[in-house]
Amino acid sequence: MSFTLVNQATPRLHRSELAVPGSQPKFFEKAAASVADVIFLDLEDAVAPDEKVQARKNIIEALNDIDWGTKTMTVRINGLDTHYMYRDVVDVIEQAGKRLDLIMIPKAGSAADIYAVDMMVTQIEAAMGYDKRIGFSILIETALGMMNVDQIAGASPRNEALHFGVADYAASTRARTTNIGGANEGYAILTTAEQEGAERQVHWGDQWHYALARMVVAARANGLRPIDGPFGDFSDPKGFRAAAMRAATLGCEGKWAIHPSQIALANEVMTPSEAEVTKARRIIEAMAEAEKEGKGAVTLDGRLIDLASIRQAEALVTKADQIAARAVAAE
Ligand code: COA
Ligand code: MG
Repeated sequence: MSFTLVNQATPRLHRSELAVPGSQPKFFEKAAASVADVIFLDLEDAVAPDEKVQARKNIIEALNDIDWGTKTMTVRINGLDTHYMYRDVVDVIEQAGKRLDLIMIPKAGSAADIYAVDMMVTQIEAAMGYDKRIGFSILIETALGMMNVDQIAGASPRNEALHFGVADYAASTRARTTNIGGANEGYAILTTAEQEGAERQVHWGDQWHYALARMVVAARANGLRPIDGPFGDFSDPKGFRAAAMRAATLGCEGKWAIHPSQIALANEVMTPSEAEVTKARRIIEAMAEAEKEGKGAVTLDGRLIDLASIRQAEALVTKADQIAARAVAAE
């Protein structure tokens, strides 16, 4: 292990995060009754400029008056380049800070962006005498943000999660796609023409692989949760599931839902399977047994397990326990 310790952010279940425009109060009760682990009430891009002020009021009222149960509550503020942002932070935290868990900072470009919001939030929390600390969810969705992702990830002890905002990232990098988070037939290779008679095949790739993998590394190296952003076609559950699975496979802990139908899919894909949990428990038992006998590495089912295996297994079991606790709380 490195002598540099990685502190882990406040642990929260973060399998699904439902996007709810602040200008759509008719969605609020449905969101509160849903099985989403996290809700983000949006003041940014799902809200038109004329509706910003009313959306802010709606969100403050909703945080104070609606029973959100044990859900993690987030508000996405406007970008630091707008004149809405300061009042988003001041009004929401002053008037509804008690039920707010996270502020989501969109289009983060540099560590200084996080520092600026941290300064504001710190003052408001102190002035209001809040005894809990509001955390930060950060959207990596621009070329600048991706270039500075390491510094952004380490910019504040409030940081909890990095999110990959695929649509704005596509716009910022001028990627040739207009769908939100889906596959792209333009990003493919053709197998070689060399073999006589062999049919050439098209192999589609994942256009977002680099960006997502890059963000996962920055998040994990700073003890944060990497979360995959939206999948726009909410009438394509198979496509959503595949997108969520490839994100989970890379290390993401959750995915956005932009429609209620995507919540259960995200929860399902981001929940470790029974088989995975059972195996993790067996690894922990086998290692405990080996430790008693003074051995460092042991075999289980014909494969090597070592201290890295036990850390992976422990992380998985902790998550399974959190999920079980959430299920009990929801009953
Ligand atoms: N949160 C809570 N409830 C929602 C919801 C959401 N994000 N989206 C839809 N619903 C509700 C609807 O009110 C409807 O409820 P009802 O059955 O009680 O009438 C039900 O879920 C089915 O909705 P549906 O008719 O299929 O969708 P819609 O046409 O009303 O809305 C969208 C579709 C995409 C406009 C809407 O889902 C939405 O605004 N999503 C969030 C988009 C967003 O925040 N984008 C920014 C981040 S990328
Ligand atoms: Mg965006």
